[in-house]
Amino acid sequence: MFLRRNKKKIEALEVADDIAVSIKDVNKFYQQNTREIHALKDINLDIKKGEFFAIIGRSGSGKTTLLSLLGAMERPTSGRIALNGQTLDCLSDKELTQIRRNDVATIYQSYNLIPVLTALQNVELPMLLKGMDKEDRLRRAEKLLVNVGLEDRIHHKPDELSGGEQQRVAIARALSNRPRIILADEPTGNLDVEITDDILKLLVGVNRDLGTTLIIITHNMEIANMADRMALMKNGVIEEVRKGQGDENRKEEDGIREKLPIDYY
Ligand SMILES: Nc1ncnc2c1ncn2[C@@H]1O[C@H](COP(=O)(O)OP(=O)(O)O)[C@@H](O)[C@H]1O
Ligand SMILES: [Mg+2]
Repeated sequence: MFLRRNKKKIEALEVADDIAVSIKDVNKFYQQNTREIHALKDINLDIKKGEFFAIIGRSGSGKTTLLSLLGAMERPTSGRIALNGQTLDCLSDKELTQIRRNDVATIYQSYNLIPVLTALQNVELPMLLKGMDKEDRLRRAEKLLVNVGLEDRIHHKPDELSGGEQQRVAIARALSNRPRIILADEPTGNLDVEITDDILKLLVGVNRDLGTTLIIITHNMEIANMADRMALMKNGVIEEVRKGQGDENRKEEDGIREKLPIDYY
């Protein structure tokens, strides 16, 4: 892979300015023992900047695999992906690490916080890896935790927090480096109904107020219906893409809603 990329210069995908995610003819195979699993089959999809996009489908249909490619955590077996105009197969592994740090953030069902670190330290970590000053990152981490409603939990460790609180920390952490794309893999899968609402409000708020592209995998049709569009996946294929309610609501909101300063989050 590495050699191939260095040997010949690959031309970048041509992507329109308003596209956040462009997926072209993507396939992903996994080798499991002697079995080959075709996890994604000829996926083609464009997602717009600022769009709220939901992915639904049964367990095993390829949703998480697709998200891991979009999060630049894995490379497709064939096909190409561009994120905010950057074609991923033109980038080295080091450059992909930068994309993972700065441009896309992923939120998981199981929160994935570091257990020995406090909420504040968890939120600080991506900024530390980016090389931000201690004072700046502490100030920002604190502010993010206040904004997600955790002002009195700042020095708690994950096991001293409820599931909903842990997911708020994970959201604050995801926002720390101001990503342009947020990926969420069943972010409310482990949470009660009321908490689900709060967490969604936070994510949708970020999408609406900052224009961050939001891609959510969910089993919950109510959530999928809130999105601008949703893709239905089945056996590694996108069977259908349909409009959600969000798209209609957004038209009504446009022009009324005032954008928050980017610094708010
Ligand atoms: N790292 C892996 N190694 C082998 N097979 C995998 C791996 N990740 C996913 N798969 C397989 O790919 C298919 C799609 O999985 P996944 O993307 O996790 O589906 P979903 O998120 O929709 O439940 C499944 O058959 C799964 O077993
Ligand atoms: Mg999954």
